[in-house]
Amino acid sequence: MLRLALLSSGNMLDCLVSDPNGPLLYKGWYHLFYQYNPYGAVWGNIVWGHAVSRDLIHWRHLPIAMVPDHWYDINGVWTGSATVLEDGQLVMLYTGSTNESVQVQNLAYPADPVDPLLVDWVKYSGNPVLVPPPGVEVKDFRDPTTAWLTPEGMWRIAIGSKVNKTGISLMYDTKDFKTFKLLDGVLRGVPGTGMWECVDFYPVSKIMENGLDTSVNGPGVKHVMKTSLDDDRNDYYALGSYDSDAGIWTPDDPKIDVGIGLRYDYGIFYASKTFYDKEKNRRILWGWIKETDSEKADIQKGWSSLQAIPRTILFDKKTGSNILQWPVKEVERLRLKKNVFDKVEVKAGSVVRLDVCSTSDQLDIAAEFEVDQEALSSLEGTEMTYSCSSSATRGALGPFGLLVLADDALSEQTPVYFYISKDTQGNFKTFFCADHSRSSEATDVDKRIYGSTVPVLKGEKLSMRILVDHSIVESFAQGGRTCITSRIYPTKAIYEDAKIFLFNNATNAGITASLQIWQMSPAYAH
Ligand code: FRU
Repeated sequence: MLRLALLSSGNMLDCLVSDPNGPLLYKGWYHLFYQYNPYGAVWGNIVWGHAVSRDLIHWRHLPIAMVPDHWYDINGVWTGSATVLEDGQLVMLYTGSTNESVQVQNLAYPADPVDPLLVDWVKYSGNPVLVPPPGVEVKDFRDPTTAWLTPEGMWRIAIGSKVNKTGISLMYDTKDFKTFKLLDGVLRGVPGTGMWECVDFYPVSKIMENGLDTSVNGPGVKHVMKTSLDDDRNDYYALGSYDSDAGIWTPDDPKIDVGIGLRYDYGIFYASKTFYDKEKNRRILWGWIKETDSEKADIQKGWSSLQAIPRTILFDKKTGSNILQWPVKEVERLRLKKNVFDKVEVKAGSVVRLDVCSTSDQLDIAAEFEVDQEALSSLEGTEMTYSCSSSATRGALGPFGLLVLADDALSEQTPVYFYISKDTQGNFKTFFCADHSRSSEATDVDKRIYGSTVPVLKGEKLSMRILVDHSIVESFAQGGRTCITSRIYPTKAIYEDAKIFLFNNATNAGITASLQIWQMSPAYAH
């Protein structure tokens, strides 16, 4: 596998992992904590698992960091975030589910700040530091963010909640993370979006090619607000401006406010969280990939869920309207043999096998596609609206792309593809989709088609990057403008029987594809 396999925290069987918690960099070590059930492959008995890495790729499992052992978290040590204070000290805020299942916020800190591995954690004796405020249901108050500094020198955090069907993020100020003041108003609220989980709030640079520390603001900065919607279990974000003095965040476009517009990922990706990597000047995103088979199957196999490959996040200066997500550079260190395919022609209605020596179950693929210009210009506009989820329609200009984790007979295959449409005004729209309907011959698994539109600017070639990892496919279009994570269960297209093909199901246009495909070495965990 290419990723952190979170299965071996002392127990290889009967466990579940979910939300990434408190990611951070401390004394040269990347830390990932995560929601972890050490006693079963379904959600419950939640503790904080803990793993560390020097390079975000090779991981060591450490002992469980926090277990439910006080009245204020006895029903679960739930999601939380780390804040690195100005003097380098660390504080961790997390949600505890109390003996009465009330959601409260608790403070924890490293027992030995000298220990770069942060093995032992102490819970503050005055916990809980926050209880649900009046007007908020006791089960709708969770997942504190990383704190940022206000112009008055206070630390500010946001916490997800809802009032009726309006998802909201409450704001609190603190000096010491022990006493907090609830601010008037909310950082944001969006009607109809339901409970906001795992809110994240951070700046991105409009000018520079690097990430920003959480407290940075100024004219060259935009702020991303992200929420995980409990109602549909997807991670949504919006770009906006944050007025630090007034404590108000305003979306650039209210039509695509947080929770009703853009998503980090159009596949299986939830409860994500970012952190700022001070050493490499970048902001990194972690996300949870849940299972898409049945609970019965998870119990049978004895484990469930994993983490996505961490992604760097940048503002997309070219479009100005989205972020770019890209697998961290370190993943490229796993690249082995490279196969190059230059300008392969794929006629309308054809499939071309790509012979990459040995196996194709663990790959890093970079592909560019050029569409026959004549076909593009002669395409007639239509009123029909395409969508990835409308099952594999053939059009004049799509779908075309790759079949990954496919067996020779193509009885199992996962198409990752583009589809270009043109409306009656002559505007092109490009879709990027991943089709799980034939990914597995098993019947009790998800078979949907995922995806969305992807901005393609004038003169740009269509491009995709795909990380294939046995049963997970992470796909990034146009440099990471639109991403889709697939969790699939091939039964035939496995190990040396997993192959890769180009396909073009357009009725009218030829395409030319150029690819670089690397076989990938597994990332062993210790
Ligand atoms: C998101 C979530 C969080 C909560 C945690 C409990 O998946 O529901 O809101 O803190 O999981 O495990």
